[in-house]
Amino acid sequence: MLIRRRSGHDIKSSEITSEAVYQNRRHFLQTASGIALGSLLLPLGEVLAAPEKYAYADIRGVKPNPKYQDKDLRKAITRPEDFSAYNNFYEFGTDKEDPKQNSKSFKTKPWTVKVHGLVNKPADYQLEDFLKPFDLEDRIYRFRCVEAWSMVVPWVGIPLHKILARAQPTSAAKYVLFKTLQDPTQFPMQKTSILEWPYVEGLRLDEAMHDLSLLTVGAYGKVLPNQNGAPLRLIVPWKYGYKSIKSIVSIELVSAQPKTSWEIRAPDEYPFYSNVIPEVPHPRWSQKTERVLGSGFFSSKQKTLMFNGYADAVASIYSKFDNKKLY
Ligand code: MTE
Repeated sequence: MLIRRRSGHDIKSSEITSEAVYQNRRHFLQTASGIALGSLLLPLGEVLAAPEKYAYADIRGVKPNPKYQDKDLRKAITRPEDFSAYNNFYEFGTDKEDPKQNSKSFKTKPWTVKVHGLVNKPADYQLEDFLKPFDLEDRIYRFRCVEAWSMVVPWVGIPLHKILARAQPTSAAKYVLFKTLQDPTQFPMQKTSILEWPYVEGLRLDEAMHDLSLLTVGAYGKVLPNQNGAPLRLIVPWKYGYKSIKSIVSIELVSAQPKTSWEIRAPDEYPFYSNVIPEVPHPRWSQKTERVLGSGFFSSKQKTLMFNGYADAVASIYSKFDNKKLY
């Protein structure tokens, strides 16, 4: 019997192919939350959970990093209700609405992060201690999903290189391997074999040390919603979204290129590097254009940018490589 593999990045007709169906859903979401089509931002507090004080660090006084406050990106920031209602988080389900619906009681405190492997200073941290020595920063980044949609998000986090420098990688360390929490009592889909669990992602060490690579705890000046990867989530803005692993509990320095969850599932479709390169198509669809998340009914698609708009910052680290191998 031939069973059609439903990959996480299959574009369902209701999501990409039929704009009309997508817009119907969007209209439903908007009317469900009482927002008129085309309205401006809702007050953030009405959309994202807004505890008075963040459980792990004081997120209220977060400072914008001026290097990542591009004016044009600021104007293009995605509405937070779109950011938090249209998600990929397979541990909570495969439909875009599942993560928000199914993550309401996800327990993010206490939370332990293990930093280990080829480092001089391995440690198990409570998340508050993990974050304590560092200042949180606000950075506006583009985000591009392999499914050809994009958004712009003001993240709150700390550059990953600071965490790695504290751990002191040894000279044998060449890659960083990240793991999401493994807990089928909280993540219902971990009882299925739709992906290899826990969700695993990896970066080459120089990619991980790049200033753009950000470990995030918030967005829009608030704590990360559970469906967006609370309480600790990686953001690598020049790569397709699946590299940005959620709900991280382990950061391990290793010597060999690790196999990632999506690579194990479909190596031709989700290879290790997964840089955003418009002219290299996904095997089943083009990557030349992208749909802006939350854009209106009549809006057209926009052009995908090389390295998702971060070519000036990252192209040099790949100068020796053929682009096709880097998708
Ligand atoms: N991390 C985990 N643990 N599980 C997932 O299913 N999905 C990835 C990534 N990180 C995923 C994950 C994919 S495919 C994308 S596009 C982004 O998260 C989506 O992030 P968002 O829901 O915040 O937009």
